Amino acid sequence: MTTVQVKLAPRSYAIQIGTDLLDKSCQLLSELDLHGKILIISNKKVWHLYGRQLRDNLAKHYSVFTCLIGDGERYKSYGELQKILRFLIKNKFERLDTIAALGGGIVGDLAGFAAAIFLRGINFVQIPTTLLAQVDSSVGGKTAINDPLGKNLIGAFYQPKLVIADTRTLRTLSARELRCGLGEIVKYGLIAEPKILAALAQKPSINAELIAQCCRRKAKIVSADERENGLRAILNFGHTIGHALETVSRYRISHGEAIALGALGALHISISRGYLPVQTLAQTQKLYLKLGLPTHTGQRLNHDQIYQIMQSDKKVADSRLRMVLLRAIGKPVLCPVEYDEVVKALAII
Ligand SMILES: NC(=O)c1ccc[n+]([C@@H]2O[C@H](COP(=O)([O-])OP(=O)(O)OC[C@H]3O[C@@H](n4cnc5c(N)ncnc54)[C@H](O)[C@@H]3O)[C@@H](O)[C@H]2O)c1
Ligand SMILES: [Zn+2]
Repeated sequence: MTTVQVKLAPRSYAIQIGTDLLDKSCQLLSELDLHGKILIISNKKVWHLYGRQLRDNLAKHYSVFTCLIGDGERYKSYGELQKILRFLIKNKFERLDTIAALGGGIVGDLAGFAAAIFLRGINFVQIPTTLLAQVDSSVGGKTAINDPLGKNLIGAFYQPKLVIADTRTLRTLSARELRCGLGEIVKYGLIAEPKILAALAQKPSINAELIAQCCRRKAKIVSADERENGLRAILNFGHTIGHALETVSRYRISHGEAIALGALGALHISISRGYLPVQTLAQTQKLYLKLGLPTHTGQRLNHDQIYQIMQSDKKVADSRLRMVLLRAIGKPVLCPVEYDEVVKALAII
């Protein structure tokens, strides 16, 4: 088991990464002095795969409840949030009880937001089961639901007490879901850890050390800037265009695919400004092909509509759209961008 610490003074916590950790969850939670009831939030698919195993383990010490939500981005919604909150009220959950999110980023974001607002905050534990959730969404405390007008617009910063990443759960992921996680891993490579890019280009292999490397990087950034007043914004590389692609495609383009495409757009703008050598784009596209990541959306896009959606991005300041660009590989910078630059970038994806 590898442990990565997220250092946030009283809100510090550990990310435990390794095999067979579902069977150690009860022990890991008891070590944190968590008592009482636990609500496992998951979806049907993940519950069938791992829910009973987790429930049986937790039932050794806890009174365990389950609430299943729909599978898909459209369930990161007001409706599902209300369902969870009602469940908690009806089952008389108290402040010191716990919510455990078992699933991918969708379950984690929704369950985390419910934990943040129920009784103004109850204990929360992340048990991520997708590669994307293990390297990214379960770490750092961003929780949210979507509004029909935009993704992740309603949310809270709310840190978990613990993250349990059982790498064995990744075995049942589809090739597409693995690719989505690789999209975020490439992002870490581009913004902070060029050696990840070199390793993936040589031999793409997903293991606990690669996951820990990404978590360490994210933990460091989050520890320095928990509420995204500055540095943390660099983690949004690829996400400004990416979120708009998800929204405009009604989530047919998944999060990992969309941010991989958004990263190509951001590279294009960085190159046009003379920050990066021209060949960076072709090198990244080559890596994507090797990893099975998309280099094009595969559909005709309405560029004006995408630009409109990008205007509701959380990084808009003083009505100016801003994007994370690269001054060099590993040197991200948040910059205002112009309409023309965005449209030209969209043309290459
Ligand atoms: N909070 C953050 O910091 C943050 C960061 C990145 C992404 N996100 C959010 O995360 C979401 C995407 O997360 P995701 O890519 O994990 O998608 P997801 O949660 O939809 O999971 C992808 C699919 O895999 C299935 N699945 C999950 N675990 C499985 C397993 N072990 N075996 C087989 N199937 C499994 C799910 O049921 C789903 O169908 C987006 O909503 C995005 O906005 C949040
Ligand atoms: Zn992301």
